[in-house]
Amino acid sequence: MLNFYGRKYPRNIKNDQLKELYDFKFFLDKSKIKTFKTKTKKFETFNLEIGFGFGENIFAQSAKNDKDLFLGCDPYLSGSFNLKKDIKTFSLKNLFFTNLGFLELFEFLKNTIFTKIVILFPDPWPKKRHKKRRLINSSFVSLLELITFEKTKIIVATDHEDYLSQILYEFYKSKSFELSTEVIGYEVYTCFDISLTKYHKKAKKSNKRVYFLLFEKKKS
Ligand SMILES: C[S@@+](CC[C@H](N)C(=O)[O-])C[C@H]1O[C@@H](n2cnc3c(N)ncnc32)[C@H](O)[C@@H]1O
Repeated sequence: MLNFYGRKYPRNIKNDQLKELYDFKFFLDKSKIKTFKTKTKKFETFNLEIGFGFGENIFAQSAKNDKDLFLGCDPYLSGSFNLKKDIKTFSLKNLFFTNLGFLELFEFLKNTIFTKIVILFPDPWPKKRHKKRRLINSSFVSLLELITFEKTKIIVATDHEDYLSQILYEFYKSKSFELSTEVIGYEVYTCFDISLTKYHKKAKKSNKRVYFLLFEKKKS
């Protein structure tokens, strides 16, 4: 499986903007990702957002919880430019982001345990022949087992019913996770104070039903 399918660079991006981004302390490209552990060692609680898009949620979460560390990954760079601006404007010290896709990032995360993992509106790849490109599949769920502990919460949102079934099935099959029956549906959105993102807005505009799911580690 390829690490990422899609466009990486926004249109009209200039070389000096790219250089500034790659030089930015909180942006960890492939050459800097190894420094993640040392740069973040004073934090106790780690959170991960996979596919942060334009960065609305990870920015809001990190601004509201300055004692916790937030790491976001998304190979599409548009949101990275937003996050760079936000981090500078609000002098954030707890938000790191990378252009590595999740699979590539995972190689550097082996000993990192996340308290919360957020995946909002992962690409649904609706065509039958593209379904294998979907991020959430059984091997993805197996990798999550290695970066989670008994208290980890995994929050997923989608407006695509076929992908919803797949997500539910993949987690149902796993030995480690179960769907929470305590916090369900839109309660997940409010309870975890999730911010409205570009794709959530899109779904609302086209009156699509949005599903929020909370997965937890199975209690042994
Ligand atoms: C449909 S958009 C949703 C963006 C945002 N979460 C939102 O709710 O607006 C899916 C995002 O996932 C990113 N993405 C796709 N594959 C990825 C991967 N393997 N690792 C990390 N991000 C990925 C895409 O670049 C895109 O920004």
